[in-house]
Amino acid sequence: MTNSAPAPLAPSDRLLCGPGPTNVDPVALAAMGKPMLGHLDPDIQPILLEVVRMLRLVYRNAEGLVLPLQATGTSGMEAGLLNLTEPGDTVIVGASAYFGRRIVELARRAGCEVVEVMEDWGVHVPNGRLLEALDENPAATLLAVVHGETSTGSLHPLAELGEALKDRPDTLLMADCVTTLGGTEIDIAGWGVDYAYSCTQKCIGAPPGMSPISVSEAGMERFAARSTPVPFSFDFELLRKYWIDRPPVYHHTAPILHIYALYEVLRATLEEGVDARCARHVAAGTHLQERVLAAGLSLIAEPDHQLPQLSAVAVPQGIDAKAVQSELLLEHGIEVGGGLPGAPPMWRIGLMGPNATTQTADRVFDALMAVLETKGAPVSA
Ligand SMILES: Cc1ncc(COP(=O)(O)O)c(C=O)c1O
Repeated sequence: MTNSAPAPLAPSDRLLCGPGPTNVDPVALAAMGKPMLGHLDPDIQPILLEVVRMLRLVYRNAEGLVLPLQATGTSGMEAGLLNLTEPGDTVIVGASAYFGRRIVELARRAGCEVVEVMEDWGVHVPNGRLLEALDENPAATLLAVVHGETSTGSLHPLAELGEALKDRPDTLLMADCVTTLGGTEIDIAGWGVDYAYSCTQKCIGAPPGMSPISVSEAGMERFAARSTPVPFSFDFELLRKYWIDRPPVYHHTAPILHIYALYEVLRATLEEGVDARCARHVAAGTHLQERVLAAGLSLIAEPDHQLPQLSAVAVPQGIDAKAVQSELLLEHGIEVGGGLPGAPPMWRIGLMGPNATTQTADRVFDALMAVLETKGAPVSA
């Protein structure tokens, strides 16, 4: 081990078109260079409230509690389970792929009895099957699904599920919106979603490190009625006392520069318009998916449930998926994802946040075709 300082950081300039993180929106990077404030400074307080107000508009939820956790998407998932369930509760989880299975695991770790409603990779769990599971387990206190399954590119029909659960108020609806917030239409209050969580590194276009959450009034009532304590860092009431109540009460040292970044990307989202931003994600993703299919490749998700911003492309027989991925990275400077553990061989191409454009779609697609041609894959661009 030497004692000398290393060379200054010089990360490569990549086009991040995997399942996330995406490239950071320039407005977020610029915001992170602004003067640092203390977490209780009078000037930070209106900034926190504006972040909350803007998140409410993006989630479309004016009630309950909305704020960003200082955490990643997984912690948003865990925070919901730990605040809204108690050990011994029955929880139903629609788990067709990797992140649904992660909810199953975290719910078990939270001490819940989990009813798994499984489907194969790429196949969404039909709402009818979830409702049957609820009929068989009417005491279930929570039902969870993944709105956008980043491990397969499958989009869950969440609006219909919310509608069907409106006459089952004792079962809270939890939705993983990690890949959909800011890129796919979401109407949390209208659809009756009691708990949603997301991240900042995907369609929102900021760096990873925060997890915007939305809790309904019914969710807050469930939280208030609990008989067991929740972990201090995730306690909804303590978080509210810092983020929303005034004067703020210290709970943790907030990541001020990340909050600036989130503020600026949310501001840019509202300037663009939430609907226009979602339409941009749809246009870019659909364009890529049309080109993928026209080239003779296939997609893992069902066509009627295809998530625009994440295309999981099946790897043709005989092609080394990892070799293609690393050539894309090293020769073209483009990151795409591979399959997660247990999944069939695939490349996962994300067009999220600032990368949700048809130009970026063409750049990734053309590079993929160029690499596949050198490998002798049966494709026709
Ligand atoms: C659908 C989904 N849920 C949860 C997560 C976990 O988020 P994080 O990696 O930020 O903890 C991810 C991450 O990619 C995801 O795509």
